[in-house]
Order: sequence, then structure tokens, then C-alpha cells
Amino acid sequence: MKIVQAAAELFPYVKTGGLADAAGSLARTLADHGHEVSVFLPGYRAVLEHRDAAGAARKLNLKIEMGDVFLTGEVRVFSPGKNLTVYLICREEFFDRRGLYGNGERDFEDNHDRFIFFSKAVVETLRLLEMQADIVHCHDWQTALLPVLLRYAERSHGLTLAMKTVCTIHNIAFQGIFPMRSFYRTNLPDDLLGIDGLEYYGQISMLKGGILFADRVTTVSPRYAKEIQTAEFGCGLEGVVATRADDLTGLLNGIDSAVWNPATDVHLPAKFSSSNLAGKQNCRAQLLKLHGLDSKFKGPVFGMVCRFTEQKGLDFILANKNFFLGENCRLIVLGSGEKRYEEALHDLAAAAPDRISISLRLDEPMSHLIEAGSDFFLMPSLFEPCGLNQMYSQAYGTVPLVSRVGGLVDTVTDADEEPETGSGLCFSPTIAGLEDGLQRALKLYADKPRLAAVQQRGMKKDFSWAKAALAYEELYRNSL
Ligand code: ADP
Ligand code: GLC
Repeated sequence: MKIVQAAAELFPYVKTGGLADAAGSLARTLADHGHEVSVFLPGYRAVLEHRDAAGAARKLNLKIEMGDVFLTGEVRVFSPGKNLTVYLICREEFFDRRGLYGNGERDFEDNHDRFIFFSKAVVETLRLLEMQADIVHCHDWQTALLPVLLRYAERSHGLTLAMKTVCTIHNIAFQGIFPMRSFYRTNLPDDLLGIDGLEYYGQISMLKGGILFADRVTTVSPRYAKEIQTAEFGCGLEGVVATRADDLTGLLNGIDSAVWNPATDVHLPAKFSSSNLAGKQNCRAQLLKLHGLDSKFKGPVFGMVCRFTEQKGLDFILANKNFFLGENCRLIVLGSGEKRYEEALHDLAAAAPDRISISLRLDEPMSHLIEAGSDFFLMPSLFEPCGLNQMYSQAYGTVPLVSRVGGLVDTVTDADEEPETGSGLCFSPTIAGLEDGLQRALKLYADKPRLAAVQQRGMKKDFSWAKAALAYEELYRNSL
């Protein structure tokens, strides 16, 4: 199949979260499986600086209609592997800056223009290159207007650019909501502005466009596909999602086994596998040492890596601070994001520097060492569309502590409730829920044979993208 993907993040070029991992792995795996894959990505400064992209050839000049003006841009192209081509949509004004969506304090004010421009540029490139795709697949709000813009362009030019379109919701909490006046920049007809179109409580929602107009809608776990049809998790879009229930599927993400494999991981001081866990002890000692903690510490080490946002349940961690301050354990957290969490966690670590370490930065190698060196990995999320770290944890023999939401339910079973099959500990997304999980972790840690069995079960699971991508291929084929 000829498959076009469009995403605002793509590993290994630019990443703020799991979207980059998922989009990057899906594209590469589909290419490995013999499909002709083209991925569109904004030409952010960070991407242009990456060695793969540095020599990218200029392919096309673009002139994109944005309301009553035309804006220029260019497409740069490179091919990082067989069957895989990356198209960078470049325009300095929009993408040559630090940060993807904002400056850390708040979102950029021109995000609507940036991503309307990006989506239009994808359509225009397909048109100029006469690329007739079988599937055009967009990810999240940043690219969700693509199905709408594509069908509109096809109609106005009298041609076919794509047989079918797919829109994947990686997180329905981010919807691309902008003032109504941004709509004119799309040059879409006014009849798309109503309640059956992009209108959303007096504003416009880009994600709503993708949900309504893509031929198929997917999200990143079966459980989340159900959740987003309810008021509790739908973030206001549950009614819209429910109208597409027949075309909605939850397909689990996978993990990139070339990057996340303890037997080959380039970021680890020692490698290990389920048949020989000695290297995991070295990783643990190194992890403690690098955080200024006693490397010979014998109690359980809890790790956590995430964006600092309400979603990730940091409030539950803070509310359980007496556990981390009082029990014989260590806590190592890596992340960055909202100031209130950065400050509160910084203060917590300052209160007990010999037990708790917080690092406020993006650090890919350290995220691998935390997965490898911890005994338990914390994911007390309020909601979690899929979640990748709980899968990395299981692959690395680290027991995930997860709340019972979204993809966490689909990928982790509770070792107390299901002693024969459990590979983690699951609890309700509340302060008391996490406390219960932490107490049960202490008991599990004290029972070494049981702990070893839980670890082994996690390490033997197949979370590979090779498997996960098959579900997408089947969906594409069925839609055609
Ligand atoms: P989300 O996409 O909601 O952030 P996921 O679990 O799907 O959650 O993916 C998060 C990804 O981002 C993981 O690969 C995780 O290791 C990575 N990550 C998050 N914060 C950091 C950080 N500070 N440094 C390095 N990697 C991080
Ligand atoms: C989102 C979700 C996360 C998911 C990721 C990749 O960022 O928050 O749960 O794993 O997308 O699909």
C-alpha cells in the first residue's frame, strides 16, 4: 500500500511524548513490512539540525492559501530507510523556533496558523507530486484538519489524492481549540463552520474535524476507545466520538524493540535479558549513584518518567509523600512541564536528598536507565490513552504500578488478583489507590520468588510494533 502519515512529532527527530514514539515506530514498521511510506513532519529547528535531515534536498516550493493571503514555504525531503521518505514542511516564521507548541509558559499564539498551514502544505505536496495514496493517516489535533482539507481540495481540483483517510486520537484532552475567526484561514466553505462541522462551543476544534471527516477513527487502546465515548473521559467530545462509534477502533501501540530492548540498549551500562538479569543490578547501582544515592541500597527503588501535567497523577505522588519519606525505599523522578509540579517535586526532593531525586529535564538516555534500574515504575495516571512506559517497564523487568485506566488496563494485569498471569500492580486513580499500590509493592518486593515470577512474565510479553502494526495494516485493508 501507499501510505501517507502526518504527525507533529516523530522519533528520532523530535519528541515531547509518546506521539513521537508511536508515529515513528508505526511508519518504520510499515516500511519494513514492504509498504511505501511517506511521513510529513513540520521542519522545526530541532529536526533541521538532526544529522539525517541536515542534508535534506529541497524538493518543492509551496504557496499556500491562508485566508486572503498566500504564504510561501518549502518541502525538504530525505529517506532514512528503505520504503520510507520524510517530507519536512518548512517555513521559518512558523517552525524555526525553540519548542514545538509553546515556550514552556504558554502555547504559541499562532498555533492555529502553524498547523493549518502544515496540513494544507501536506495536501498541496500530494497534489504537486501527484501522489495518489491508498491511505492518508493523521495523528492528533495538529493534523486532524487534513481529512477535511484533502477532500475539499480533491473536489475543487477534480482529482483523487487518497482512497481513504484515518485519524488517530492519541489524547483527546488536546483538541486544537481556537477562536472562530481562525476558521477563515482554512478557506473551507462556511457550511463546515456549524455544529455538524468544526464549531465547538463558539470556537473551532481541529480534532473534531478529524473525528467527523476521516473515513476511520482510531485511538491507541481498546479501553480508551470505550472511555472516550463517556463524559468522564471524552473531554466534551464524547458525543461527537459516539457518532463515529461504528468506525472507531482501539489499536494498541507497540514498543520499538530496536530502541527499547535491555539486551541491546545503547544507553545502559550493562545489558540483560530474562535469562540473565545480572546486568539489571549494575544498571540499578549506576542509577542510584548518578542520582547521588547509596548505590548499595537494598530496598525497593521506584522510578517515574513523564511530562509534568495533571494527567500523569503527580498529585497522587505528592499526596503520598509520607510513604516516600518514611518507608525504606528510594524515589527517582525524571520529567518537566508545569511549574507547580516542578516546584513541588523539587521541594520534596530537597526535604530528603538521600532518598528522593528529581531531575527536571528531557533526557532520553536517563529515561532508559530509570526503566532498567528501577524495581517499580510509577504510572498513577488519571487517564492514559495508551501509555508506553508501562510496556518499556515490563520489557525491562521493572514492575509497573499503574492506575486502572485506558491502555494501562489493556497492557498490565494485577499480580495479586491474578497470581498466575499478573505482571504489575493496578489500582484506582486516587490518592488511596496509589497508597494501596505502594503498600502492595513493598509486600511483593519482600517476596523475592514471587517478584521474580512477576518480572519474568512481564519480560516475556510481546509488545513489539511488528505485532502492533499488523492491526493497522488490517484496518487500512478493510477500509479500502
Ligand atoms: P505521553 O505521550 O502522554 O507523554 P507515553 O507513556 O505514551 O505518555 O510516552 C511518553 C514518552 O516520553 C516515553 O517514551 C517517555 O520515556 C518519554 N519521556 C517523558 N518525559 C521524558 C523526559 N523528561 N526525558 C526523557 N523521556 C521522557
Ligand atoms: C499520548 C498519550 C499516551 C500515548 C501516546 C502515544 O501522548 O497520552 O497515553 O501512549 O499518546 O499514542
